[in-house]
Amino acid sequence: MEKTEMILQEAIKEISKIVDKHELMAFSTKYLGKNGILSEQMKILRELPIEEKRSFGESLNILRDKLNDLVKTKDKEIEFSLLKEKLEKEKVDVTIPAKPKEYGTMHPIEILKKDLIDYFIERGYTLRDGGDIETDYYCFEALNVPKEHPAREMQDTFYIDSETVLRTHTSAMQVRTMESTQPPIKMISAGNAYRIDEVDATHSPVFGQLEILVVDKNVTMADLIGTLEGVVKHLLGEKTNIRVRPSYFPFTEPSIEADAVCPKCQGKGCSMCKCSGYIEMLGAGMVHPKVLEMSGIDSTVYKGFAAGIGLDRLAMMKFGVSDLRDLYENDINLLKQFK
Ligand code: PHE
Repeated sequence: MEKTEMILQEAIKEISKIVDKHELMAFSTKYLGKNGILSEQMKILRELPIEEKRSFGESLNILRDKLNDLVKTKDKEIEFSLLKEKLEKEKVDVTIPAKPKEYGTMHPIEILKKDLIDYFIERGYTLRDGGDIETDYYCFEALNVPKEHPAREMQDTFYIDSETVLRTHTSAMQVRTMESTQPPIKMISAGNAYRIDEVDATHSPVFGQLEILVVDKNVTMADLIGTLEGVVKHLLGEKTNIRVRPSYFPFTEPSIEADAVCPKCQGKGCSMCKCSGYIEMLGAGMVHPKVLEMSGIDSTVYKGFAAGIGLDRLAMMKFGVSDLRDLYENDINLLKQFK
């Protein structure tokens, strides 16, 4: 009895000084471990005469339980103080003023794109989504640009494999639409196009395009030019005139290109329009009968017009940006000005 009480008192004294888990582990080994004080007493117990064995055994059991309790209680105490310490360290000062949030801004080309999409949807067009990765067939072949056609050279582009390209124009969507829809068709599709172009003030290898396609029984060139005039005036103001020039695209016949009068110099000639007074905006034309036929539309009954508007240059004109590269610098302070 006395012996175990002494051990217990000693243990209580010792454990009261313990402050961390390491020390507690050492304490536990010292008293309860395989070669610890309790085990030692057990060995002594075995040697005792039978009449002493019982009471000593009992007091050893009590001692073991008490030692275990001591360790458990201490362990909880240490856990608690660790938590307290952590909470104190991580205290949040709710009175500190919050950091101002930095908001991004809608990109000018995106603003323009959305505006154009709304414009056409209001006029009954359907918006179609296309992928940036396109097959050679839809990008060229079905648009009357066979493999060895010289027009491919102008659009020589990023091939993923011999049959797959990053689309060089959104015109692929003309074919995809005509294949899956019977006329009358009024469709727009907007997105990125990719070409091997050196980066300069008006060129970028990635640029936005908006494709327009209308197929119906009595569609004429006048409808096309009226549509183009309407959209340019909507974007750049009622007074902005366009100039239409004959051009060539394998998938339209006749083909045209349209320029807008330079909004910076009103046609006098300046650095923005390279002294020409006009800014090139889009290619267009009457859908080639071969393209209609290849897409499953009877070209003796239906006619169509199509156009591809370059979004980057339009954005430059609309927002008065003289260097296209400024739009790709991700400078929030610059981009924020365009609304
Ligand atoms: N796809 C042509 C280009 O990217 C533009 C275009 C579209 C021309 C539709 C005619 C009809 O240059």
